[in-house]
Amino acid sequence: MIVPVSRTDFTEKEFEAIKKPLESGWVVQGPYVKEFEDKWSAFTGAVNSIAVTSCTTAIQVSLHALGIKHGDEVIVPAFTWVATANAVECLGAKPVFCDIDIDTFNIDTAKAERLINAKTKAIVPVHLFGLPSDMDAVMALANSHNLKVVEDAACGFGSYYKGIHVGNFGDMGCFSFHPRKAITTGEGGMITTASGSMNSLLRSLRDHGSSVSDFQRHHGPKPYLLPDFPRLGYNFRMTDIQAAIGSAQMDRASSISDARKKIAAKYDEELKNTGWLKTPCKQYNSEHGYQSYVCMFNTEDNLSFDIDSMNLKRNNFMEYLQYNGISTRPGTHAVHILDYYAKKYDLKSDDFMNASIAYLCSVALPLYPNLTDDEFGYVVEKIKSYKL
Ligand SMILES: Cc1ncc(COP(=O)(O)O)c(C=O)c1O
Repeated sequence: MIVPVSRTDFTEKEFEAIKKPLESGWVVQGPYVKEFEDKWSAFTGAVNSIAVTSCTTAIQVSLHALGIKHGDEVIVPAFTWVATANAVECLGAKPVFCDIDIDTFNIDTAKAERLINAKTKAIVPVHLFGLPSDMDAVMALANSHNLKVVEDAACGFGSYYKGIHVGNFGDMGCFSFHPRKAITTGEGGMITTASGSMNSLLRSLRDHGSSVSDFQRHHGPKPYLLPDFPRLGYNFRMTDIQAAIGSAQMDRASSISDARKKIAAKYDEELKNTGWLKTPCKQYNSEHGYQSYVCMFNTEDNLSFDIDSMNLKRNNFMEYLQYNGISTRPGTHAVHILDYYAKKYDLKSDDFMNASIAYLCSVALPLYPNLTDDEFGYVVEKIKSYKL
C-alpha cells in the first residue's frame, strides 16, 4: 500500500467551478476572488479578507503595509517554514530568531521578550501545524513594546484560540493555499485584517499600488482611462481561476476541517501508548486545526538525549515507514541552521536548541480528509509493530 504524506481532494464542484472564469473570459483577479474573500471572512469571522498569491507574499506585503523596512528587526520563531523569515528578509529587515516551546512547537514568548530592542518593530507568531500560538502572551508582549503583529496562519485554517479563529488577533493574519494545506488553490494566500485602512492599503499594494482594481476599472464608467498609482506596489494578485477553486472548497469548509480533526483524534487514541512517539500537544484554550499531524520521536524519558543519535533513530523510523510505502516528513525546518541564515547571521544549531531538536526529531504522519480507513489502519499497524 502507498500512503502519501499529503493528498489533494478536488470534487466535481471544483472541476465545475474552474470552468466558470474560463467561460467568462475574465481570468485575472475579479468576481471569484471577491467571492472567495467573502466566504473566507464568513468562515473565519475576519472583518476583511484580501486574497494574494501565497502566504509568503501575504506576510511580506503585510509587513510592508505596517511600515517594516530596512534596518528594522522582526521576531520570528526559529522552527517554521523558511518563508516566515524570508518575507522579513526580502523587505531588507532582519529576522531575529526566537526559540520555541518544545511541547507546542510555537514561539516561546518569554524568550521573545529578551530579544526586543529599539530596532524591534514587529513579531510574527506562527500557528505551527495548526496549533494556535499563545495569543494572549503574544499580544501582551506586542502591546507593552509597541510591536506590530502579523500572524503566520499558513497552517491555521480551522484553528481557534479561545473560540476565535486564528488570524483575528494581530494586525494581520496570513494564510496559505499550498497543496499541503486544508484549502488549496495550487498556490495562493489570504490576508485577514480588522483595519479598514490596512484593508484598502493591502488591496492597492497587491495590485502594483493602483488606486482601483482592473475589474473595477473595466466595469466602471470610464474603462478606457488608466488609474493612478499613488504608491509603489507588487503584483501579488490571485487569479479568478484559483479563486473559483478556493470558493468551491469553502462551501465544504466545515466538513474539510472536521475530517482532519476526526483523523487526528483517531491517531491520538491509537498512539496514546506508543511512548516513543509523542502525539501533538493539546491545549485547553485552543482548537488544533491539524494542517499536519506532527509527533516527536523520543525513545528516552526526557529531552536530555544525544540529539544526533536520536535523529539517526528518527530517520531509521522514517526509512522503515517509507520502505513500507508510508511517506512522512520532519515537521519543518530549524530555519537558523539553513545555509543562508546560518552564514548571514553566524548562527549555530544550539543557539535555538528546541528548534533544532524539533527539526531533527519530529515526524509528520499522513493526515488528510481522503485518507481511507484502510490506509489509516495500515499506518497505525506499521507504527505499532516497529521494533526500536
Ligand atoms: C508556517 C508557514 N509559513 C509560511 C508558509 C508559506 O506559505 P506559501 O507556500 O503559501 O507561501 C508555509 C507553507 O508551508 C508555512 O508552513
